[in-house]
Amino acid sequence: MERFVRGIPKAELHLHIEGSLEPAMVFALAAKNAVRLAYPSIEALREAYRFENLQSFLDIYYAGADVLRTEDDFYLMTLAYLERAQHDGVVHVEIFFDPQTHTLRGISYAAVVQGISRALSQGQQRLGISYRLIPCFLRHLSAEDAMRTFEQALPLRKLIHGFGLDSSESGNPPAKFAEVFARARAAGFPVVAHAGEEGPPEYIQQALDILQVARIDHGVRCEADPALVERLARTQVPLTVCPLSNIKLKVFDRLEDHNLKRLLDRGLCVTVNSDDPAYFGGYIADNLLAVQQALHLSHADIAQLAANSIRASFLDQSEQAPLLARIDVYASAH
Ligand code: HPA
Ligand code: ZN
Repeated sequence: MERFVRGIPKAELHLHIEGSLEPAMVFALAAKNAVRLAYPSIEALREAYRFENLQSFLDIYYAGADVLRTEDDFYLMTLAYLERAQHDGVVHVEIFFDPQTHTLRGISYAAVVQGISRALSQGQQRLGISYRLIPCFLRHLSAEDAMRTFEQALPLRKLIHGFGLDSSESGNPPAKFAEVFARARAAGFPVVAHAGEEGPPEYIQQALDILQVARIDHGVRCEADPALVERLARTQVPLTVCPLSNIKLKVFDRLEDHNLKRLLDRGLCVTVNSDDPAYFGGYIADNLLAVQQALHLSHADIAQLAANSIRASFLDQSEQAPLLARIDVYASAH
């Protein structure tokens, strides 16, 4: 099963590139950029990765991102992620980043995008991994700040393929960002939003109705509203679920309690992703294997999750078809 899970072609659609910054790289970049860290060693930093909820994680995650200073730092971080992803059978990635985390520290939007894009373009050429790049608005900041950040993205629009919404969910409903999302859609970008990670089903509904998202990031709290589950099954709006993240942030107590299998069996377009792999204890194959074991997923379930990840991506039909065919061939040969 482990070889099957690792080898099956798949897309990763919910990955914050700043969340792929491993403790060793935090220390290496801190030394290079003369940044003082609050932790004396790599081990001490890793020890600090015990979270009570989303906010306690975000505090450490934003502090970790402070070591990223130059275009080259973003390039090296992204390249390291792509090499890990290839090892896990990833053939397509849609990567999130948080521009405001960096522009607020005086780093230019262009340096961030160009560093990440340079790695993505090399990943396509050398590793055969296709990609999309999706900046997220930080929902704990104001709608006006999001609008200014959207405008900063426009000169770089050739390198950007959509917009997302992340950070502290509770108290920051999707409706707060109706205007900037309307502008992003009017400019031709597909949009996604984190909703129903800690927040209520109502936030998922707002993301669908007001932001008009193509996918819901997380969305696992939809189950509290049966009509919403029915809607997600009917419309096939995908959920990008992140099982190990949900355990680390205490959305579920134990992996055995996770609702991924129920949602899959209910016919929702569920995908499995790693969210912030350096913080949550595993990359995409680790996430798939962990839920496979905890929820007794079959080979057919794994193949379904892989096919869902391709269908849920922003690749067009002609790009999806050969990848879906590869999954079919792979699954029937195993
Ligand atoms: N939720 C919200 N914001 C985030 C996350 C997440 O899981 N990861 C990085 N930013
Ligand atoms: Zn996320």
